[in-house]
Formats: sequence, structure tokens, C-alpha cells
Amino acid sequence: MIAAIGAVASNDMLGLDNWLPWDIPEELAYFERTVAGAALVVGRLTYESMDIVPVDTFVVTGQENYVLRSGCHRVASVEAGLRQALATGKPVFVIGGASVYAAAWPYCERFFLTRIDKPFDGDTRFPDSIPLDRWAVVADSQASYLERRSGEPVICRFLQYAQPDVKSLNAA
Ligand SMILES: NC(=O)c1ccc[n+]([C@@H]2O[C@H](COP(=O)([O-])OP(=O)(O)OC[C@H]3O[C@@H](n4cnc5c(N)ncnc54)[C@H](OP(=O)(O)O)[C@@H]3O)[C@@H](O)[C@H]2O)c1
Repeated sequence: MIAAIGAVASNDMLGLDNWLPWDIPEELAYFERTVAGAALVVGRLTYESMDIVPVDTFVVTGQENYVLRSGCHRVASVEAGLRQALATGKPVFVIGGASVYAAAWPYCERFFLTRIDKPFDGDTRFPDSIPLDRWAVVADSQASYLERRSGEPVICRFLQYAQPDVKSLNAA
């Protein structure tokens, strides 16, 4: 299965200064738990922001000579990344950023999206081209956590969306 995973603020922001606009350790732990053992497809900027990158991470970049950390693979397109990630036999997660979500969503059966109930300053928005309003909500739970930069509580709503008409990679 190909799935995407991400988190978004109530004003659609998902990134700031090549990191997250918030500091919510429990949300990050949910992400890490969910993608553990999967093959990952990630954009070059998000890859560069990650301290730890698991094996079978496929980094999308147009730079032919881009040197990656051990266990990571360079791919020239999102489709190539998805194909090679599937070939590992592991579950596949698209982990962003915005440009990679925008290209990968047609191939995703699921989108694990955490909606954070507050606006945050940011420089990268969740792509409005992803028609999640037409996908079915198949899981929905929420919890309140402390957002550590503001010192204020936030509600994180953990949603899973299922896409009705997944595009085949064979058709790409
Ligand atoms: N809230 C969340 O859940 C979440 C998740 C992930 C990321 N983020 C945040 O999102 C921000 C980064 O997002 P972003 O959209 O700016 O960057 P990104 O998607 O992480 O990376 C963009 C780069 O990936 C490569 N790329 C993307 N699509 C490509 C394609 N179709 N073909 C070839 N190469 C492609 C290009 O690399 P080259 O320039 O090398 O060609 C491009 O410059 C950061 O702030 C990050 O922290 C948030």
C-alpha cells in the first residue's frame, strides 16, 4: 500500500524554515511510530531537515550528483521513487514536503493527516490541489498536547483518509 502522512495547522501551514511550525513531541512520535519499518519517499528539502533517515528512503531531487546518506537512494521523480519503494516489499509512506505530496497524492490509497486546531506562522502550505474533501474518513481520533514553543495546549486530530479512485503507477 502507498500512503502519505503529514500534519497541518488550521491555516493550512505545514512548514517553517525547513522544519515544522510547531513543537509537539507526541505528534512527531505518532509519525515515527506510523512509518517505522516502511520505505519512505521524501522531497530533497525535507530529507535535508531530518536528523535520522531510515534505510530505504527514496529522496526526490532533480540534482543528478546529489550525494545521500547511506541507505538512501536518489530518484529523479516521485513516480520513480514510489516504484522503487514498492519494490522493497515494505509498506510505502510519502512523507512530504508540500511539493512531493502534490505529485504523489493520486497514487496514495491513504492519507494519514494530523489536523492541529490552531493557526501557525509558516512558509509552506499544504497543497490545495489534494481533494481530501472527496476522500472517505476511515479513522478519526484526537488528543490534547502541549505545544512547546507557545506553551499552550493544542488539539491534534488524527485522521486517515481513503482515496476512492487511486491512480495506477502503471498508467504514469
Ligand atoms: N507538516 C508536515 O507533516 C511536513 C512533512 C514534510 C515536510 N514538511 C515541511 O515542508 C517543508 C518542505 O516542503 P517543500 O515542498 O518546500 O520541499 P520538499 O518537497 O521537501 O523538497 C522539494 C525538493 O524536492 C525535489 N522535488 C520535489 N518534487 C520533485 C519532482 N516532481 N521531480 C524532481 N524533484 C522534485 C526538488 O529537489 P531539487 O531542488 O534538489 O531538485 C525540490 O526542490 C519544510 O518546511 C518541511 O519541514 C512538513
